[in-house]
Formats: sequence, C-alpha cells, structure tokens
Amino acid sequence: MPWNPLPLTTLVILILIGSLWVSPETARGQMLFNRGDCNTDGVSNIADVVHALGVLFSGAGPANCADACDVNDDGGNDISDPIYMLGNLFSGGPNPPLPDDCGPDPTADSLDCLIGPASCPPPVEDCGNGVDDDGDNDVDCADSDCQGDPACAPPLSFSLDMYPIIVDQCTFCHGPPSNFANLDLSLEAGNDPYASLINIPSTECSSYDLVEPAESQNSWLYRKISGTHIDAATAAGCAVVNAGTQMPLGPFCCLDQATIDLFQEWIDGGANP
Ligand code: HEC
Repeated sequence: MPWNPLPLTTLVILILIGSLWVSPETARGQMLFNRGDCNTDGVSNIADVVHALGVLFSGAGPANCADACDVNDDGGNDISDPIYMLGNLFSGGPNPPLPDDCGPDPTADSLDCLIGPASCPPPVEDCGNGVDDDGDNDVDCADSDCQGDPACAPPLSFSLDMYPIIVDQCTFCHGPPSNFANLDLSLEAGNDPYASLINIPSTECSSYDLVEPAESQNSWLYRKISGTHIDAATAAGCAVVNAGTQMPLGPFCCLDQATIDLFQEWIDGGANP
C-alpha cells in the first residue's frame, strides 16, 4: 500500500494552529491566589471541596477562582481536583502545588480567578511590563494607577522644560544686542532658539553641533555648561584657545548640577521641541 502523507500533513497543521493559540493569561495579568482555596474565603478546608463539587456537578455557576480549584495544577477543573483535596485534608496526601501564599500561577494555563481571594492583596499595575496586571483593561501608563510614575512622565521638551532656564540664565548675553559667540537664543525678531541649536555646528569647535539630539557628549552646548568643553575640543583637534570658558560666562557660572543633568536628560531623550 502506498504511503499516504495526508494524516501527517493534518497533524503538522494542527500542531501549527495549536502553537498560535495564545492563552488569555499572556494578554492580561493574573490575580494572586492560594491553590486549594477554591471558594476564595482565605482558608483551605472541606468547604472548598463542596464548592468544587458544586461547580462541577450541581450547576453552582463558575468557580470563584478556577486556578485555585485546579488543586493538582493539571490546567483543568475536574473530579481529580476535589479528590486531591480530600486526600490532602483527610488521608495525609501531599499538599497542593504552589502558590500557597498569594502568588500567581507558576504554570501557564487558561484558568484565572473571577473573584480574587479575600486574603490576598489586590493586584497592582506594573507600569512598564506591557501587561494589564490588575485586570482593569488599562495597560501600563494608560492605567490611572501609573499617574505620577516617573516611567510614565512625558519626555522633557525644549519649550516647556528648557527654555525657561535659558531665558533666565542665557538670553541676556545670547540675545540682542550682544548675541555673544553669534548665538541668539531669544525670541526677538522672529528668531527660533530651538532651530538655532539643533544640528547647528558650534562656532568655537565646528566638529560639534550645539545640540546633537540623543548625544549629549557630542553636543557643544552640554560640553560648555558641564565644563567638559576643553577635553572635547582637545579630543576633536579644535584649538583650545577658541573653546572659551564654561557657561554661563564668568560671574554667572555655573548652572547647578541638577540643571546641568536636566539639559543632559533633554538631549539624550531626543532633544524634543
Ligand atoms: C554673561 C554673558 C553670558 C552668559 C550669561 C552666557 N553666555 Fe554663553 N557665551 C558668552 C560668550 C562671551 C561666549 C564666547 C566666549 C566663551 O565661550 O567663553 C559664549 C559662548 C557660548 C557658546 C558657544 C557657542 C558656539 O557656537 O560655539 C555656547 C554653546 C553658550 N555660550 C551657551 C550658553 C548657555 C547655554 C548659557 C546659559 C546657560 C550661556 N551661554 C550664558 C557669554 C555668555
């Protein structure tokens, strides 16, 4: 009889479809539970066996916590679970697999809790893991729990965060009438201070742009306010005499470290307008 490849092909297709199946637990977070506490009242006892049997055989509705009712952690709710529980409670059988102290399910399956166990803390949103940890359909920074989390703060912007500092510390020299070093950071006569900085070569050391987005170390403005401009000029082969002094000039020097760090963070964050 000739070999028929069809059953094998079917099997391969079924395995492929199976591997594409994404269980709901990969998409949303999990409630914490104690395995065996099927009715989620905080203790594991005969009442959990009764709850499990009711769900399985008396139409008592869905289990409070299907994960907790999966006493033997085989990924399903069936008669083997209350039997395992009875064995543990009355015949010296093994304890159910973990968790026994408000943990997530260590085993990937499609079970979850409808009602979180009263004894377990409510799940909290982790603001940076791409998962709806607390099950409220809002993921990460979209969740109101993440308001005020630094990971969710908008990136620094030139106009909102940096320009007020520049007006305070720089434009009385870098604006009309002085425009020292030919650098106008004012808003006068239609000048655009942001455009005057981004990807514009420095007059003091033209190997550097005044601001090179995402690269504070290659930004002459950052080198000038952090006092690392001499090193930078030397490294680039610029004449040190032309590199000038740390900014702001003379008696106005220098910005405090937090402000210097803020400029660095703004540039390394992409130097957003
Ligand atoms: C009191 C006047 C004064 C103040 C205030 C001042 N600067 Fe300057 N700035 C100068 C002078 C003069 C030069 C040229 C000589 C030098 O570099 O020492 C200069 C040069 C520069 C350069 C080099 C420009 C280029 O094209 O190479 C940058 C960048 C700069 N300043 C940024 C700033 C920033 C940012 C501030 C505010 C935090 C600031 N300066 C505050 C007077 C000032």
